[in-house]
Amino acid sequence: MTSRATRNLATFTLHDGGGVPLVLLHGFPLDHRMWATCAEHLPPGARAIGVDLPGAGHSDLDGYPPSIEHIADAVHRTMIEAGEGNAVVVGHSMGGYVALALAERHPGFVAGLGLVDTKSTADTDAARAKRLRIAAAVDASQTVDAVLGMPAELVGATSTEQRRGLFPLLDSWIRAQSPAGVAWSQRAMAARPDRTAVLERLDAPVAVVVGAEDTITPLAEAEHMVQAAGSPSGPAMGDAALTVVPGAGHMAVVEDPQAVAAALGLLHTHVVAHH
Ligand code: MLT
Repeated sequence: MTSRATRNLATFTLHDGGGVPLVLLHGFPLDHRMWATCAEHLPPGARAIGVDLPGAGHSDLDGYPPSIEHIADAVHRTMIEAGEGNAVVVGHSMGGYVALALAERHPGFVAGLGLVDTKSTADTDAARAKRLRIAAAVDASQTVDAVLGMPAELVGATSTEQRRGLFPLLDSWIRAQSPAGVAWSQRAMAARPDRTAVLERLDAPVAVVVGAEDTITPLAEAEHMVQAAGSPSGPAMGDAALTVVPGAGHMAVVEDPQAVAAALGLLHTHVVAHH
């Protein structure tokens, strides 16, 4: 029998403060460290908690079949057990897929939603097949070699020229991940549905942030989410609803941490003011 345990996830205080926290969910194949510099630039008093998702960083896999819903439930349970009744939930890319699932399954927990270089749509058949091929290659080699080339796609054209130091940094973060966690996450992402309707229903402010040079989850995906969140059944955040970060790609969080922190700070301030 597969052993399963409802284990809590590893969490890290990345910025001190009180009140409603920002819960920061990382992208693939990374961990909470991708948020560290961005969190330092949040406004004073905006508490930020980084979470390592199952199989990433310091969080183990727990024997469950791969699913974004399971990750969302694990984040929710971890926060509730830590005494956090609600939060501004912020997800980068895969973390955004998790944030949307969390908003769907535990809407009362989500006081605000930040979606950074991510999308609400599901994979195409080709993208799903590619994920399953990568997962199989990772399982077969028991290494993360199949994803070591990712930084070239993750980072935008401007950073590729001007922020060369990001490459060894991303490489070190990716090499630190467990092959089992990388394969599990790919399968979880492959199975996720379209969650655009979650944004239409959500009764919380939404901020969408995208690097202008993001080719993985490009501007059109961000605009699609803003449109859904701003529809009559959802509250719009006016000017803060969409932030396009110039000179940054899919890793805007590390390519221009201050710009992303400014957008998330506005969201947090808005949530605190209306709480
Ligand atoms: C990520 O940054 O989390 C991944 O690129 C997301 C994805 O593969 O869809």
